[in-house]
Amino acid sequence: MLPDGHFAGRVALITGGGTGIGQAIATQLAALGADLVIAGRRREPLEDTARTLRGYGVKVLPVAMDVRDAEAVQAMVDTSLATFGRIDMLVNNAAGNFRAPAVALSENAWRAVTDIVLHGTWFCTQAVGRVMIEAGGGSILNIGTVGGFHGGPLAVHSASAKGAVLAMSRTLAVEWGAHRVRVNVLTPGATADTGAVGQLFPEADAQQRIIAAIPAGRFARREEIADAACYLLSDYAAYVTGANLVIDGGKWLGRGHLDNPNRPAQPAQGDTP
Ligand code: HXC
Repeated sequence: MLPDGHFAGRVALITGGGTGIGQAIATQLAALGADLVIAGRRREPLEDTARTLRGYGVKVLPVAMDVRDAEAVQAMVDTSLATFGRIDMLVNNAAGNFRAPAVALSENAWRAVTDIVLHGTWFCTQAVGRVMIEAGGGSILNIGTVGGFHGGPLAVHSASAKGAVLAMSRTLAVEWGAHRVRVNVLTPGATADTGAVGQLFPEADAQQRIIAAIPAGRFARREEIADAACYLLSDYAAYVTGANLVIDGGKWLGRGHLDNPNRPAQPAQGDTP
């Protein structure tokens, strides 16, 4: 999509970079020449991913840490600067979620998800934002969810935190615009081969029901989300800030108030739920 070597000489930090959508974004950035810091709680997937990414001829620093810990976030940023001397891009992708009725959520369950999604995103954004402002610019991308602005049951903790991240992004896009720091949101719908779909909707019939409600007739592919992330992080989006790019095959728009005769009756070909 972007020209070869577009990110050469630049450094991206991706939380949750060892698996799922974070790993797909890291892969696409590496293919386009970026050096990478990939962070996550579990060392093993980070090391595995780092080995693969180095195959693109870029440098990769895996950091095992928890975004809920502000001191660990600062230590990660310090180590990244000591290793690479700069951080040009930040992708706040680390998230936590599970399906639960709002009335049944314990205090600890609420805190577990809001700490990862809202506080973790904030700690990383503030620490890296200071670096970017000092350096004269940068690009921050927060991964959202349609639940953050469109009602949906059984995830009030995640939806509340992601909605706050959307507000955070828009606020900082304005506050940091003069510093040439762009802040955008990329909101994927259900994406194949990710923990989110497998964990939240493990049953095949639930997945088929979701697909039936998607105008595009299939789940997103991880690479489609990664391509869009690279665009928003790139110079081609130099005038894009405070945006929320929704990539969900049109699902959040609903199926319309009239029956849609063009809606696929079957999952689109090539779909891999
Ligand atoms: C009810 C649950 C629960 C569940 C955990 N809890 N899972 N309650 N149903 N399925 C409760 C626990 O009982 C505990 O409360 C509290 O949450 C903390 O649980 P821990 O396991 O101790 O926390 P922790 O190890 O920090 O795990 C965090 C987590 C976990 C969020 C709970 O699921 C996680 O780390 N997930 C990361 C991966 C992930 O979720 N990816 C999907 C992101 S999808 P008590 O009171 O018992 O102590 C996404 C977008 C959604 O964000 C888009 C949808 C299409």
